[in-house]
Amino acid sequence: MKYFIGNWKMFGIPGSIKIVDRINNFLNKDKKNNKKYKTIIAPPHTLLQNFSHKFKNKKISISAQNCFHKDYFGAHTGSISAFMIKRLGVNYVIIGHSENRASGETDYIIKEKVFSALKNNLNIIFCIGENRLEKRKKLTLKVLKKQIVNVLKKNYNLKKIIIAYEPVWSIGTGKVPKPDELQKIVILIKKFLKSHFKNKHNFKILYGGSVDNKSIGNFKLIKELDGFLIGGASKSSKKFIDIIRNFYK
Ligand code: PGA
Repeated sequence: MKYFIGNWKMFGIPGSIKIVDRINNFLNKDKKNNKKYKTIIAPPHTLLQNFSHKFKNKKISISAQNCFHKDYFGAHTGSISAFMIKRLGVNYVIIGHSENRASGETDYIIKEKVFSALKNNLNIIFCIGENRLEKRKKLTLKVLKKQIVNVLKKNYNLKKIIIAYEPVWSIGTGKVPKPDELQKIVILIKKFLKSHFKNKHNFKILYGGSVDNKSIGNFKLIKELDGFLIGGASKSSKKFIDIIRNFYK
């Protein structure tokens, strides 16, 4: 099963529901392939209730883009807990996105967020990735392993976790890793996960960073990849659908 997950970031108003509608209609019609993949859209918090209500029991699923790191309710102005997200009928949450790490989210906070999301039975799209300098210094694997071990614990329900490998230097830049480089990293992360978690679980690993209807052609031959986290190109139903179409072409 492949994943195509759209991360809208800080975009979208109530009328943007038509984008999700068009994608959902496409999924219904794509009889040839639609059992091979799962599609999830992560709108901003303001649209979660409406979208999750409208697309309840539909092919497409809805995800939150973040959650607070503790508590069900509390004096945390502007924050939303995993508990509140779950009560909207939403079953997924993105945690650890590099844009949030860049504004101060530490591994410790990310660990607490994952813990809270698991406690509320949410599925987690857990983002990891190295920045440009770390890549230049050939620290990629070291960084990824650290981000993983600092957050995922052996006693967690690992089935609820999907890992999204998103090199920071590739997000929103149009720059993507070479397919063989990416394949190597995905294989090495999977190998590391197997040894670290003692083969308990087959992790799914997605790639994210400048995925669009053209770059998808480079990635589709990487059989170790379990799907994609798509930012910019997910705000247009046409671009998002073209990614899926081109993947199965
Ligand atoms: P991008 O974003 O596709 O616009 O590069 C990906 C992401 O941030 O998840």
